[in-house]
Amino acid sequence: MLALACLMQLACAVASDLPSLLVAMLARDEEQLLRKHLPLWRDIGDCFVLGLDSRNQDASEEIASELLVPKPAQVFHFDFEGFGSAKTRLLQECHQRFPLVHYVLLVEPDMFPVVSTFHREALSQRESVYAIHRSGKESRGERLADCVFRNDGLWHFKFRVHETPVRRAEGSGVPERISDTGWSVVEISGSVRDGQSRALKVRDELRLVKEDLKDYPGHPRLTYYAGALRYDLAMELREEGDGPKIQALAKKAVKVLARRSREGAGSEEHTQQQSAAAYFCARSYLDLLGNNQKAEQWFRTTMKLEPDFLYARVALIQMLFRQQRFSEAFKEAVDATKLGRPRLRLFMDSGPLHVCDIPLLSSKAIYYMYINATLRPELQSHPVWPQRARLLAASAACELAGGDSAERS
Ligand SMILES: *[C@@H]1O[C@H](CO)[C@@H](O)[C@H](O)[C@H]1NC(C)=O
Repeated sequence: MLALACLMQLACAVASDLPSLLVAMLARDEEQLLRKHLPLWRDIGDCFVLGLDSRNQDASEEIASELLVPKPAQVFHFDFEGFGSAKTRLLQECHQRFPLVHYVLLVEPDMFPVVSTFHREALSQRESVYAIHRSGKESRGERLADCVFRNDGLWHFKFRVHETPVRRAEGSGVPERISDTGWSVVEISGSVRDGQSRALKVRDELRLVKEDLKDYPGHPRLTYYAGALRYDLAMELREEGDGPKIQALAKKAVKVLARRSREGAGSEEHTQQQSAAAYFCARSYLDLLGNNQKAEQWFRTTMKLEPDFLYARVALIQMLFRQQRFSEAFKEAVDATKLGRPRLRLFMDSGPLHVCDIPLLSSKAIYYMYINATLRPELQSHPVWPQRARLLAASAACELAGGDSAERS
C-alpha cells in the first residue's frame, strides 16, 4: 500500500520541468456532475484528491476511481463543519497524500475546464497562489478567483462561508495582487445546493457570517457580506411579501454597507468590496426602501470609488430614465461610453455591461433626446451626435451577439 502511494506520487510529480498540478474538489452526492466533468479534468491534472462529505450517499467514490484512470486519484471522507474548515482539510490532505506535487487547483463538481486555456507555463514564476477565470451560472461575465495554491501545507481557509485563503508562513492573506493563469472554468447549474430555495441558501450564509463576526468583529470582508446578504435576503423575501421583515433587513443592510463603503485601502479584494458595498447600499435604497434620492447619492459615491465598476452607472442611467430626466441620463451614458474596457474584478465583472448595457442605454438616451423637441437641439450640438451611427452599431452588435444585458433580463 505504502509502495503504491509512493509510486503514485512520483507518477504525479515528474513528467516535465513545468510545475505539476493536483486537481482537488469537495463533493456531496454530485455523482451526475462528476460523471460529466471528471473526464475533462482528467486531462488537466497530474493527480486528484476528492473529499467526500461523510453524508454522501451516491456512487461518487466509485465514479471518481473509475473515470480518473490512469491518473493517481485518492478519496477521503470528512464531517462538514463549514466551508472554510472543509477546504482547509482538503488542502492538508493534498499535501499529505501528494507532497511532491507543486500546485493544487481547487475546483467544484459543477465546474468544468475550458481545456484549451490550461497552459502549465502559467505557473512558471512559482508564485504562492494564482487566480483562474470563473464564469457561468448566476454571475455575468468572468471573474478572477484565487484557486491555485502552492502545495506546501501552509494554507488554510478562514471563515465558515465566503471563506478566504490564508498562508500561515506570512500570517496574512494572499498577496495584494494575484497573478492570473488565464485558465478558464465554467460553472453550470444543477448541483445539489442549486436545488435549494435561494432564500434558504442566503439565510444560511447570513447565519454563518454572523457566527464568523463573533470571532472576527468588524472584519471588512465579513462586514461586506453581512450587508450584501441582507440585501439579497430581503429581495428574496419580497416574493413572500413580508413587509416589516424586509424593511428591517433593508435598514440594517444600508447601515452596514454604508459603514463598509467608508473602509478604504488594503487588498484588491477589500477595495473592490468597498465599491460593491456602496453599490448595494444604493440598491437597498432603490429596491427596498423606495428612497430614490439616497439611491442616486450612493450610485454616485460608487462611481467615484471605482469609475469602471459599471453596475452603478447602468443602474443610475435606468433610474434617470424612469424619472424622465433624459438630458441627465444622456450625459451619464456619454460619460460611460468614454470609459475603456473595464478591469477584470474578483466578482461582478463589468465586461458584459461594457459590451452590451452601456451601448444599449446610450442608444436609448439618444433616442429619448431626439424625440423630444426641447431636448433635440442639445443632442444635435453635442460632440456625440456625429458619432451616433457608431454608437447605434455597437448596441446592434450586442443584440446580434445575443449578448445578455441587465436591460433584458
Ligand atoms: C421634453 O423634455 C423636457 C425637459 O426635460 C420636459 O420638461 C418635457 O416634459 C419633455 N417633453 C415630452 C413630450 O416628453
